Amino acid sequence: MTDKQKPRLRFFEESPGQQHIQPGDQYLYRQESPAHRVNVIGTGTIGIEHMRVASMLGRVAVHGIYDPQPESMDVAESEFAKHADHKLVRYDSLTAACQDDAVDGLMICTPNYTHIDVFEEAAKSGKPIFLEKPMATTLADAKRICEIADSYEAFVQVGLQYRYKAPYVEARHEALERGTLGTIRTLAMSEYRPPFLDKVGQWNKFTEKSGGTLVEKCCHYFDLLTLFANSPPERVFASAGQAVNFTDLEYEGSNCDIDDHAFVVIDYANGIRANFTLNMFCPEFHEELVICGDRGRLVATEHFDFQRDDVSTSEVSIELGENAASRKIQVGYTRPVEQSGHHGATWFEPIAFADHLDGKPVDAAYPAESLWSIIIASAAQESAASGAPVDIQSYVKKHGLDAVLSA
Ligand SMILES: NC(=O)c1ccc[n+]([C@@H]2O[C@H](COP(=O)([O-])OP(=O)(O)OC[C@H]3O[C@@H](n4cnc5c(N)ncnc54)[C@H](O)[C@@H]3O)[C@@H](O)[C@H]2O)c1
Repeated sequence: MTDKQKPRLRFFEESPGQQHIQPGDQYLYRQESPAHRVNVIGTGTIGIEHMRVASMLGRVAVHGIYDPQPESMDVAESEFAKHADHKLVRYDSLTAACQDDAVDGLMICTPNYTHIDVFEEAAKSGKPIFLEKPMATTLADAKRICEIADSYEAFVQVGLQYRYKAPYVEARHEALERGTLGTIRTLAMSEYRPPFLDKVGQWNKFTEKSGGTLVEKCCHYFDLLTLFANSPPERVFASAGQAVNFTDLEYEGSNCDIDDHAFVVIDYANGIRANFTLNMFCPEFHEELVICGDRGRLVATEHFDFQRDDVSTSEVSIELGENAASRKIQVGYTRPVEQSGHHGATWFEPIAFADHLDGKPVDAAYPAESLWSIIIASAAQESAASGAPVDIQSYVKKHGLDAVLSA
């Protein structure tokens, strides 16, 4: 085990009684210098989150930042100063941030509608790229990103981080690796939560800028469902609408047009049936995944009551009847990991990025795989608008996606 892989003892490291330990006496607390440097493009909510986690982990140093809104860079700088010991470079153009030889990776954390242009510029650098989800707001832009990534010499990692949430990590072990539930037949996923938060330019309140609610937010869940189904989707049917949130929001002459609730049914080609429920006018956050196989049922839940200012609680329940031992376990991460963002999922993204830079095997989403989450989301939005189910094979053909999906 190298120093960098040792478990950190942050409680002791950061306690007042250990601050007198000098660098020469440090063994448990010693940290190697980060082996990699990255620039962060877009320093809003998630950009700042990634900067904090990267600094806490210490494997990738954030070298510089670029954001056209100076206030975003001001806040990022002052937040960064709380947990890092070096100053950030502030770039005055996207090209300068992408082309600096001092860094060996780029993190794109800009609003969805900017991903395509920022990605195209970033890809001129030849550097490894982390691109926030959803890859793009339209299937045409997502296709273009997949085409570039396919012939790109470096890797492109997409921020579908819900794969790293503790209950779903455990569910994957049980259902996919251990085969505890037998052959999976049905999947049911739900998210109940409060409305979307404010954003710079309110980009997440408009379909044109976000791709729509099912693309913007629910790509995470469609990614998870497809991982568990382990099959391409065959048919998507949805009903969705805007009932409560932002019905009176007008911004720069446009009315908010995003859905705040939805029901989506997905038939996968291997016969697995899945559904997804969204409700965004709830007081607390609650997610649930129910997997039924021919030997048992698994229920993975995550509950976050932010009004009480507490960590989230997550459980995985495995019900096997007379087939084997049933169990219910509490799962979760340590407090610093849990508080890193999305209940610990953000923590694992810089780890995956650093592992990839180190040439190690990585569990992360790549563009061609991530494309399925946008295909399902877009098809669901189309189905909700037309009232008819969408046949995915024809949909893929219509949007010219066959080649990128089979690449
Ligand atoms: N993985 C997750 O779970 C997760 C969570 C939150 C946000 N996101 C994604 O991260 C992205 C950013 O979301 P956010 O919540 O941080 O939004 P935000 O509005 O808080 O911040 C976006 C920042 O990008 C800047 N920006 C706009 N255009 C830019 C450009 N061309 N170049 C550089 N910077 C630019 C804005 O000025 C702003 O500071 C979105 O794609 C969003 O979907 C992902």
